[in-house]
Amino acid sequence: MKERENFGSRFAVIMAMAGSAIGLGNIWRFPYMVGEYGGAAFIIVYILASFLLVLPIFFAETVIGRRSRSNTFGAMQKLAPGTRWKWLGLLTIVSPIIILSYYSVVGGWSVEYLFKALAFDFTGVPADEIHEFFGRFISSAWEPILVHTAFVAMVGGIVLAGVKKGIEKFTKVTMPILFVLIVVIAVYSITLPGAGKGVEYLLKPDFSKMSAGMVAAAMGQAFFSLSLGVGTILTYASYMRKDENILASGVGTAVSDLVFAVLAGFAVMPAVFAAGIAPGAGPGLVFETLPFIFNKMGSAIPWLSAVMAIVFFVTILVAALTSAISMMEVGVAYLTEEKGMKRVGATLIVTLFAWVVGILCSLSFGPLSGVRLLGNSIFDFLDKLCSNWLLPAGGLLFTIFVGWKMSRSDVFDEFTNGGTLRANVRLFKVVWFLLRYVAPVGIVVVFATNLLM
Ligand code: TRP
Repeated sequence: MKERENFGSRFAVIMAMAGSAIGLGNIWRFPYMVGEYGGAAFIIVYILASFLLVLPIFFAETVIGRRSRSNTFGAMQKLAPGTRWKWLGLLTIVSPIIILSYYSVVGGWSVEYLFKALAFDFTGVPADEIHEFFGRFISSAWEPILVHTAFVAMVGGIVLAGVKKGIEKFTKVTMPILFVLIVVIAVYSITLPGAGKGVEYLLKPDFSKMSAGMVAAAMGQAFFSLSLGVGTILTYASYMRKDENILASGVGTAVSDLVFAVLAGFAVMPAVFAAGIAPGAGPGLVFETLPFIFNKMGSAIPWLSAVMAIVFFVTILVAALTSAISMMEVGVAYLTEEKGMKRVGATLIVTLFAWVVGILCSLSFGPLSGVRLLGNSIFDFLDKLCSNWLLPAGGLLFTIFVGWKMSRSDVFDEFTNGGTLRANVRLFKVVWFLLRYVAPVGIVVVFATNLLM
């Protein structure tokens, strides 16, 4: 058998995992979820869900991935041969490819906006025109499909280059730059006139907005943002060397993901209020508000606004790419390792699938907007199906697998590198408790209340 690739260093692992976690989920989805569910209260529930329910799944997936050194399907075959756990392996191959499909549509939007920024199309344009443009653009037939195609092709290209030369190289360079950029934009946004309301919205919780649906959405967002429940982190962990630290990678990824989301909130929300846009405006929020910020900058220093717009849409695009490659890698690892395919063929199949399903999602904003699945457009249906149901369900099964099916000593061994990491040994009891009880029970309770209310 061909030798499996590994990430080259600890830094590379963290950057690849953070690259997977930080993406459109933070910059695009998080701000509009916050807007849809009423601000600070959502953020608090989101933080609780991230650390109590979702971080344990990170540990579960990394333990499975690194112990088995396999794709998600192979991992189940190795650790629980001949059992029905193989279905979990299969579920977690299908769902990231579905996510990749609609994710690439939004990735395409960022390509479009980058082009517009490069052509100085936002400079000096009033807020309502920018708002109108977004609506017209996503509901048209061809343009969004064109940029979606470009996005999927880029993802395929990076994945094709391989784990070390493609994924590792790309994420190591881009992730640190992203952080700097989002900080700059957030700082600028907070200082806009009229931004105070947005800041207040993000900091002052109104708990009357709590509902079962909101808690489920917060949990779904946490799964989505940390790329958990579908074997993405499991697959990356299978490329982790044995001397790396699972606890540190998990906490590092979760904290950087959270910080990034909150920064994106501070970049977007103050501008939403300053521009007079409704916070609950939905998936277009980032695309409609950011150009507004750049315009404001433009009235003071024209060239600066153009540069910031370009820089920002490059940021979104890069963040989206580093996440999308992690989704694609799940399917590619499966096809090459289990089906004996070449990397080229496997990448091509996954790319084509995501391309076709993505086209349907894209059209669901325009020509196919009449197609309704349980009251949702195709795009919304797939997003809700994955985020609110498939990811938590996959995560639930992963914790049950690690907490109840694997032996405690195996999990301990993997989590503490054979007892050599002192902090991990000390914290193991807590993690074990979260894995066995808190996370599974919590996820089931959120599911149940959401279904019954
Ligand atoms: N977490 C990424 C983001 O925030 C998206 C992502 C990557 C993802 N891999 C995933 C979401 C697997 C769900 C499942 O943009």
